[in-house]
Amino acid sequence: MAALSYNFSLICSLVLVLISPSTAKTSFRPKALVLPVTKDSSTLQYVTEIKQRTPHVPVKLTIDLGGRSLWVNCDEETYKSSSYKFAPCHSAPCSLANARICWDCFSEPRQFCQNRTCNILPDNPIRGIFSNGPVSMDVVSIQSTDGKNPGKVVSLPQLLFVCASFDLSDLAKGVTGMAGLGRAKISLPSLFSAAFSFPRKFAICLSSSTKANGAVFFGDDPYVMLPDVDVSKSLTYTPLILNPVTTASISLFPEPSSDYFIGVKSIKINGNVVPLNTSLLSVDKKGFGGTKISTVNPYTVMETSIYKAFTEAFIKELANVPRVKPVSPFGTCFSSPHIGSTRVGAAVPLIDLVLQSSKVIWSIFGANSMVQVKDDVLCLGFVDGGVNPRTSIVIGGHQLEDNLLQFDLATSRLGFSSSLLFHRTTCSNFNFSSHA
Ligand SMILES: *[C@@H]1O[C@H](CO)[C@@H](O)[C@H](O)[C@H]1NC(C)=O
Ligand SMILES: *[C@@H]1O[C@H](CO)[C@@H](O)[C@H](O)[C@H]1NC(C)=O
Ligand SMILES: *[C@@H]1O[C@H](CO)[C@@H](O)[C@H](O)[C@H]1NC(C)=O
Repeated sequence: MAALSYNFSLICSLVLVLISPSTAKTSFRPKALVLPVTKDSSTLQYVTEIKQRTPHVPVKLTIDLGGRSLWVNCDEETYKSSSYKFAPCHSAPCSLANARICWDCFSEPRQFCQNRTCNILPDNPIRGIFSNGPVSMDVVSIQSTDGKNPGKVVSLPQLLFVCASFDLSDLAKGVTGMAGLGRAKISLPSLFSAAFSFPRKFAICLSSSTKANGAVFFGDDPYVMLPDVDVSKSLTYTPLILNPVTTASISLFPEPSSDYFIGVKSIKINGNVVPLNTSLLSVDKKGFGGTKISTVNPYTVMETSIYKAFTEAFIKELANVPRVKPVSPFGTCFSSPHIGSTRVGAAVPLIDLVLQSSKVIWSIFGANSMVQVKDDVLCLGFVDGGVNPRTSIVIGGHQLEDNLLQFDLATSRLGFSSSLLFHRTTCSNFNFSSHA
């Protein structure tokens, strides 16, 4: 960042040539793509891997559901590729990325120090920090799918990404970037849909196990899990809400948030409404409040007053079970030998997120509400987000596991399955073996 200075040659009139930044090499047109996702046991991040560069190398990435773009750390030591290109300022990829400033690099010209690049500020939401780097392109290969098995590998010769220079120490071991799946023209779902002309939809299915793969699907359903369960058949839909103010760590221009917000109207525990200040549940004009979905928070985070009311109501419904000393980061833990089990996890009070109507409910059962922290201790897997957080409720990874979520960017709609355990399958049941 230090070596970069910028001149404010802002574009006055932008001719928005919305050409796809990448075109498929082969005539084979995939209907959908699939990436395996693993859960890292030490950071609890969800990690995937793509093949990038010439020669191809595997690149590990932390999944950032609300992230604007794919970013990868680029430096001459670790990023070696004969097909790397940066986007010259004012070019189509720069407009697509809303990168309106031309940047110069005042040091020895090197592969990643060039004049007249267009830069954006990629985000690491885990620590709330940003970097600065040029909009770039390189070849990426990814597996296609028919929704049941992986198929042919397809290549995108010039997939847009951002070169960053982050300190990677807070990311899972071996990870050198983040895969942004957010609401933005340069996120992976947008770029893949544009490149292959498939519907602007994608789905995530995160595994609860650190030993078995979950999956991200780009493109339309079916999404079939063993034993032959098409999970897309049992989705409930709710509108995705656009937060008009960016939730990124920084932004050079006013822009809407690339995070996915949903309209939680109330929370019920065992059917009883939890008393909350409901104005916290909507996004205000400044972009504060509301409920978003995140893959970089391992557990759901709630604004303090919501968290207090929620945990008190839960404890009341589970009054017959002894509480034990809380284990960080949780504030409410129980003696687990006193709790029975069901097909959908521990037998604990049912949590319902009530959405656009009283009939549209995201139900959270024991497998997604409780965390086994020790042999005999089960904690309520929600954490206190403090007062005045940016977003009142951030639904985190543990609450998403073994649920399939389909994001439809064209209709701005979320499809959710609730626990796949009810359908006698899990997110680790996609058959990743290819047809012979
Ligand atoms: C960029 O332009 C400046 C000023 O024209 C020049 O001093 C510098 O060497 C150039 N840097 C590179 C990387 O070409
Ligand atoms: C409810 O939340 C809003 C938004 O944070 C706040 O302005 C208001 O004072 C709160 N109302 C109560 C009764 O706490
Ligand atoms: C997984 O898919 C492969 C290829 O279609 C098939 O041969 C295999 O039987 C499938 N596995 C299961 C458990 O169905």
